[in-house]
Amino acid sequence: MMENRDFLSIADLSFHEIEQIFYKATENRQALPSQSLFGKSVVLVFEKASTRTRISFEVGITRMGGHPIVLTPEGTQMARGEPLKDTARIFSGYCDVIVMRTFGHERAVEMAHYASVPVINALTDLLHPCQVLADCFTLCRRFGNLAGKKVAWIGDGNNMANSWINASAAFGFELVLACPSGFDPDRETLNSALQKGAKVKLCRDPQEASAGAVAVNTDVWASMGQEEEADGRKKAFSEYQVTRKIMEHAVPEAVFMHCLPAHRGEEVTEDVLEGPQSIVWEQAQNRLYVQEAILDFLLRK
Ligand code: CP
Ligand code: NVA
Repeated sequence: MMENRDFLSIADLSFHEIEQIFYKATENRQALPSQSLFGKSVVLVFEKASTRTRISFEVGITRMGGHPIVLTPEGTQMARGEPLKDTARIFSGYCDVIVMRTFGHERAVEMAHYASVPVINALTDLLHPCQVLADCFTLCRRFGNLAGKKVAWIGDGNNMANSWINASAAFGFELVLACPSGFDPDRETLNSALQKGAKVKLCRDPQEASAGAVAVNTDVWASMGQEEEADGRKKAFSEYQVTRKIMEHAVPEAVFMHCLPAHRGEEVTEDVLEGPQSIVWEQAQNRLYVQEAILDFLLRK
């Protein structure tokens, strides 16, 4: 029996497969997507909060003719201690795809191991591949081929930063991350991307990161699950705010990117977030089309 494919990381896809997904996502922007979920159900498990991911998956699954079932742990037996490996096999008996947002990445890996249907990572502490793949789609629509271009990451070396590192290996753009000491991205993700030829550089200076970049990215200073560290992080990240001055170091046509939700006055100023270079709403909308294309791709495998 053929193993089904999962999407836990951008590193799970070849560049050729990403091109296929982007081709489909472009079509999905213009017309209803193929009805490849007709008669099928998708379970979406959210162990953390979500606005964009939840609604874009629910709407996308509906547009594809499928039935989305959203579960939050409370109200399921998961909250009462039913093992993940049992839950994975139960889901697989009823549903055709599992979408999961959770804390430890190993929970998504375990779900994928025991499930006999495709599992999609809707964010873990380690990675946020659906967001960054959609972000790369947004960038490709604007700048064409990303190979050789420079992308900046300013702030926390978090799940988004790690997925941008994976994207650098896939797309061939140069990624320069400016993170405060103690908040660097995941070493294993970085080493594995570097081995695949990713051009990733770590520095401490936001101006160095943004110099000559076509895109300047940031994210919240305290991710979900880090609420208790928020005050300490505000101090550690105080020099890492994306301001107009930071944007002036990038190329004139550069864009500002943020996965949202954003904290105005912390990681980004109001004028940058709301300014002409900001493409945050376009990023959020493209989640819908790219995730539809990911679902379609996994169902065909
Ligand atoms: N960007 C993102 O994943 O948003 P949500 O947490 O609202 O899903
Ligand atoms: N890094 C953020 C992303 C939210 C979409 C978090 O994990 O909370």
